[in-house]
Amino acid sequence: MKVLITGANGMLGSSLCRLISDEHEVHAFHRDEECFALFTAEYSLELADSHQFRLRFNQVSPDLVIHCASLTNVDECETQPTRAYKANVTTTENIAQLCSNQAKLVYISTDQVYGETENHSETNEALEPVNQYGNTKLQGEQKVQQLCVDHIIVRTNIIGWNVKPGRVSSAEWIYYSLRNGEQITLFSDYNFSPIYVDCLGSIIMQLVDMDFKGIVNAGSPTPCSKYDFGLRLADEFGVDQLLIRKGSITKHQFSAQRLPKLGLDCGRLSALKVDIPEWWESLAMFAQVEKT
Ligand SMILES: NC(=O)c1ccc[n+]([C@@H]2O[C@H](COP(=O)([O-])OP(=O)(O)OC[C@H]3O[C@@H](n4cnc5c(N)ncnc54)[C@H](OP(=O)(O)O)[C@@H]3O)[C@@H](O)[C@H]2O)c1
Repeated sequence: MKVLITGANGMLGSSLCRLISDEHEVHAFHRDEECFALFTAEYSLELADSHQFRLRFNQVSPDLVIHCASLTNVDECETQPTRAYKANVTTTENIAQLCSNQAKLVYISTDQVYGETENHSETNEALEPVNQYGNTKLQGEQKVQQLCVDHIIVRTNIIGWNVKPGRVSSAEWIYYSLRNGEQITLFSDYNFSPIYVDCLGSIIMQLVDMDFKGIVNAGSPTPCSKYDFGLRLADEFGVDQLLIRKGSITKHQFSAQRLPKLGLDCGRLSALKVDIPEWWESLAMFAQVEKT
């Protein structure tokens, strides 16, 4: 298959490029001088430049597009809503329009689209995101649904390593801080469903292979708090757990509002008989990369 991956220098995009490069023709789209991922062909361009993107898209004529590019910094989305809209909605709209009847589109969304509601399953359509990141990602989902029949929307929360110098994911930040002997505070009342990036990539390709269409949550079936996650991470890497202080999200101010419960209901993915790692299994795989 000819697979076009956006955000190829990002955490998920680069992982996908590596995972599928043996079997598929990988067209890696990024906006840096250099591509840090594995590829068959690579293209440096700003996705908001719809003219340039259309030219490249038509040249590649992909069978599958995996749209990983996004403004992922939750606080930057809040303080720069126009930039967030352009990055997360306008670019997605352009991509979905180009895919329409020509290519299957996988859109990577987020646990943050659920917002206030307690019901974090795909069947719940009454979603109330509480910040611009969640809002713009949800609007991106709607563009995909409106414009591209053959689509998969994956709501997730990811842990993994970055390939682009200078980029640090939250799990990497915890690890580097503890390894450097720095004290950190992690919230015991903030729950999420993280999944190791390579497992997510493999699940995405399984969904493509089974011709799944629609929305699916992909994360740890059992959620965990950031605090428990940090303790387990310290244990996996053999670093000092005592450097982790227990904190409460209610005592911290962020530009963007955060809700304490981001756990994902992964019943739909389980029903498809797809293996989903628990968060501690994802953490073990994350640690294994550094150990080898
Ligand atoms: N990481 C998580 O925990 C998490 C959780 C939930 C959902 N997600 C979703 O999963 C997807 C992948 O996340 P990730 O962690 O791999 O993200 P990431 O590491 O931040 O990578 C995103 C990439 O997209 C690029 N990009 C952004 N806007 C662009 C534009 N207009 N034109 C070209 N490239 C652009 C970024 O380039 P720059 O480096 O130049 O900005 C970056 O390389 C995203 O859609 C995200 O919303 C991630």
